[in-house]
This record gives sequence, C-alpha cells and structure tokens, in this order.
Amino acid sequence: MGRVSRHDRIATGLIEWGSGSLRDLPWRRTNNAWHVLVSEVMLQQTGVNRVLPKWSSFIEVFPTVYECAQAPLGDVLRLWQGLGYPRRAKNLQAAAQVVVEQHKRIMPNTLEGLLALPGIGPYTARAVLAFAFEEDAAVVDTNIARVLARFHGRTLKARDAQKLADDWVPQGEAWLWNQALMDLGATVCRPQPLCDE
Ligand code: ADE
Repeated sequence: MGRVSRHDRIATGLIEWGSGSLRDLPWRRTNNAWHVLVSEVMLQQTGVNRVLPKWSSFIEVFPTVYECAQAPLGDVLRLWQGLGYPRRAKNLQAAAQVVVEQHKRIMPNTLEGLLALPGIGPYTARAVLAFAFEEDAAVVDTNIARVLARFHGRTLKARDAQKLADDWVPQGEAWLWNQALMDLGATVCRPQPLCDE
C-alpha cells in the first residue's frame, strides 16, 4: 500500500461523503457566477448563518452585476450592514463596475480575468471557477488548509497547500470536491477535531 492508494482511497471517500452529507446552502444551488462571487466574498470573513439572509437580500436587490454597478455606494453598504468589513462591499461594487465596463457585463471565467477584479484574491477567484464554471480549480481557505495539513501530517506553507490541493482535485469533480473539503473542515475536521465521526 503506497501513498497513491491512500491518496485515492481518501479522495473516493471524500467524494462519497460529500455526495450524501453536504450542507444544503442556497449558493450551492446556483451556477450564476455573480451570485457565487457575492457568497464567497461574504463568507470570507463572516459565518454561514449570518451570511444566509444577507446573501438572499443582496441578490434580490442586485440580481446582476449591472444593478450593483449602477447603485449608489450607500445602498450597497446598507445591504452589507451586519456582515462587517464593509471594505468588501466597496470592492465588490468596484468589481461589478469593471465587469460592466470592461467585460460587457459578463463575469470573467479565467483565473487571470478574475484575479484582475478589485478585491478578488487567489481563494475567491478559484472558488468562482470551481463553483460557477466547474473548472478543475482547487480552493484553499483556512478550513481546507487545516484538512490538507492533517492529511499530510505536517504544517504547510500557503504555497505548498495550494500546490497539494491543485494536485488532488479529481478531474471534472471540482465542485463537489471543494464543497466537501470545506464542509469536512467546518463540521468534522475542525480545529478541535471530531475524529470519531
Ligand atoms: N465558506 C466559503 N465558501 C463556502 C461555501 N461555498 N459553502 C460554505 N461555506 C463556505
């Protein structure tokens, strides 16, 4: 039994676990890239329960990049109230304005295109690729970095964690893979892990 088979066994197990155990969250039922982007920016620094109502009202008022780009900044900030870190809302509107002005209102579907938008870093760009465009992108947030570090039995530098994650994404399964890794980190492989589960 070499490393490859342990690797594959865990990968298969994670996909199976994810197929049955993913949390049912509204941004997981859409592949609208703008709606996915809004959820990921909100979830960067705010917990799922606080994001749930805010995401819904934000999407209702700004169903496309165009509505958000055109709105007075005060309206965007008001919808953000309760989430904290309002700079994210400013950046999100600036990103919507770039998409309107430079991309004919169509969200970019490449890593370079997404990284060029205000406020979008390596995590958010890959989340949009994997969750909206079903690209084989590997998402690494703090939860996933912890899961990867435990799997490999050592602490990982950010760049090494991204590389390991990139090498592990099963082709064509990035959506389920990343959501499952995220949920494993959030519900079982927590900072205080529930190993019996
Ligand atoms: N945290 C960041 N992205 C998330 C997602 N798509 N689902 C649940 N929690 C998240």
